Amino acid sequence: MRIYNLGSINIDHVYHLPALPRRGETLPALSYSQGLGGKGANQSVAAARAGAQVIHLGAMGTGDDWVPRRLAAAGVDISAIARLPDIATGHAVILVDAGGENSIILHGGANRALPPGLARRPDFAAGDILLMQNETSLQAETAAAARAAGARVIYSAAPFNIAALREVLPHVSILAVNEVEARDTFAAFGQDLPVEGLLVTRGAEGAEFRDLRSGPTWRQPAFRVQPVDTTGAGDCFTGWFAAGLSRGQDIPTALRHAAAAAALQVTRQGAGDAMPNRAEVLAFLKAHG
Ligand code: RIB
Repeated sequence: MRIYNLGSINIDHVYHLPALPRRGETLPALSYSQGLGGKGANQSVAAARAGAQVIHLGAMGTGDDWVPRRLAAAGVDISAIARLPDIATGHAVILVDAGGENSIILHGGANRALPPGLARRPDFAAGDILLMQNETSLQAETAAAARAAGARVIYSAAPFNIAALREVLPHVSILAVNEVEARDTFAAFGQDLPVEGLLVTRGAEGAEFRDLRSGPTWRQPAFRVQPVDTTGAGDCFTGWFAAGLSRGQDIPTALRHAAAAAALQVTRQGAGDAMPNRAEVLAFLKAHG
């Protein structure tokens, strides 16, 4: 089963600081690095390294050829990434504090100007998964096309926006949110969400999947690690979880593998570049019982 990902592609500019700056404060950074980011690209890399067949649907500006090369090196099919002249590649300014927590400024750029043809893929099929996040244009139309073809749509409501979620929700199969997004979602739409499943990630508090059709909830505690950078941990979890479903794993196994992958990912610097591969995750699970 394939995973399509209508996903953002960003260049992350990462600044490590002793603490996040307060209003009006100027702080020298301890270090600076550039890396592969964007919730979409991060999820694509995570799912591909988990062993899934991943086709990324997205756009970038011109130049920065290391970005698609890095996606391809991770095993992602990049043939449907458009290169748009006269528009910047999406990018993020990420501030990371000594505890690995972050603040992010985002510029959507090409992610918000996707060519309409991407939503009309003739090749969505029953059993496929479409991953999406709220960092691109064309969300509702692509989700509708995928559902009409019998694919399942996993939507990360991040960055959280009620209007965007309202538009896409009728086409979503599994909604993926963090704890704050879950609270905002319930406040806006009530408890009775029109989706088959809800994936809630809670960082160090673990994650849960609620089957909203038949009722059961599966809980997965987080593995205890010392984080150095939590950027992209939710993307890692969702990408690995989607890969698990596409490989036919049951929910508890997919959750456990995703939790192990996210635990490994936060012990490394960066977002997309820090996603672990299958061998690393299996070794981690073996070492952690
Ligand atoms: O979820 C982390 C990601 O959010 C970063 O890689 C950044 O690019 C933003 O999209």
